[in-house]
Amino acid sequence: MNDFRFRYLSILLGMLVFITSCSSGGGDSEPEIELGDPIANQASEITSSSFKASWSRLYRAQSYLLDVSSDASFATFLAGYNAKSTTSLNEEITGLESNTVYYYRVKAVKETVISNYSNTVEVTTTFVPDPNQTLKKAADTFLVGVAVQSGKLTGQYDENYTKEFSSITAEWEMKMDVMYPSQGNYNFGPADAIVDYGVANGINVHGHSLIWHNSTPDWVKSFAGTDQEFEDMIEDYITTVVSRYKGKITSWDVVNEALEDGSGSLRNSIYRQKMGDDYIAKCYQFVRASDPDVLIFYNDYNMITDQTKQDAVFTMVDDFIARDIPIDGVGFQMHISHDYPSKDDIQKATDRIVERGLKVHFSELDVRANPNKDLTSLSSERSLSQKAKVKEVVEVYNGIPNENKYALTVWGLKDSESWLLNFYGHMDWPLLFDGNYNKKDAYYGFLEGLQ
Ligand code: XIL
Repeated sequence: MNDFRFRYLSILLGMLVFITSCSSGGGDSEPEIELGDPIANQASEITSSSFKASWSRLYRAQSYLLDVSSDASFATFLAGYNAKSTTSLNEEITGLESNTVYYYRVKAVKETVISNYSNTVEVTTTFVPDPNQTLKKAADTFLVGVAVQSGKLTGQYDENYTKEFSSITAEWEMKMDVMYPSQGNYNFGPADAIVDYGVANGINVHGHSLIWHNSTPDWVKSFAGTDQEFEDMIEDYITTVVSRYKGKITSWDVVNEALEDGSGSLRNSIYRQKMGDDYIAKCYQFVRASDPDVLIFYNDYNMITDQTKQDAVFTMVDDFIARDIPIDGVGFQMHISHDYPSKDDIQKATDRIVERGLKVHFSELDVRANPNKDLTSLSSERSLSQKAKVKEVVEVYNGIPNENKYALTVWGLKDSESWLLNFYGHMDWPLLFDGNYNKKDAYYGFLEGLQ
């Protein structure tokens, strides 16, 4: 009896399954499939004219439809790449423009079922520099400067300066300890050599710097006269120097690094002690009285990373503007590192100069590749990181309205002669050319920043 019932139930169940599958199956096709959406991978093998697009295999997909466009909204397509069908998981895209942004995405296909689009991948082809390109030709809206030394103005120095640069700054020859070694006795030889070199070659000369606590001669530090005599001496020095180079140089850093790190308060230099808190304004007035046309800059370091110092500089600048003290521009020295500061911070600080209608000078650019002393030679990875930072700096500078531009000056030509090697006492490669005058990745980063 039990056996009979079990068999009867099994037959009924079997019939039910048969009827159900016939009614919902519609012949022998499978039920509708859910394909899911494919995932496009980052491009690889990127060159100046090609890249490889790829995507992950989607379970059940039989083929893929690939779109490639130079426009993020895919309003137009690269010829042959409007839903190009392929069974492969990658595709070599060729015949592209150098240094150009492209986008790609895929859909997956299984018979008549087509998925949604994958994510969109952005890729930039690499940049191929024109062999005839130079820094100064590429930067057609501002001067490209380099710090030079009076004893290094011939041979390969000369070749590179005249070919690549449109402005020079004396690395140390136009500082007070060199130009004014003792009271009433000037030494203009080295400064003259640099200024004459600039004039003879049609290269702009930036004067750097009249007053700097770090280049104050000892006789000035221990000045014996009264405060008024000190101020008269400074006025006489500024008048003498500025008048000498009037018409030959375009600009002066009048006071350099007058504010303290961290607090932004006035450095207690001999100038402040003798001439009072308003000594900076006085110096700017002395320069203007000697040369009505020369551009007058305030120059300092760490003004991007040290917010307090940055604020203090702009408070001083605003005070000058309010009191009609002459000032034409602000110089950010730009002694920076391959990974610091961020482009955004450089931009924000730069905007504060532009907002005031002043000129911007990135006056002493060098980019440390080895700030943590972890390298014994410049690795290709670090070199590319340095290049990317140089590119960002140049992009920010190039984006300034033309009327606020002046110069972007690099603090030296060759890595092997950078002041930073002595300053930090360990190896680094902070400039655009290596010790053998070869162009580095950083050099090409400069050019790319101008694209
Ligand atoms: C440095 C020069 O590169 C050195 O040759 C010199 O011995 C000292 O000064 N900030 C400045 C520059 O404004 O004048 C400094 O130049 C680097 C820091």
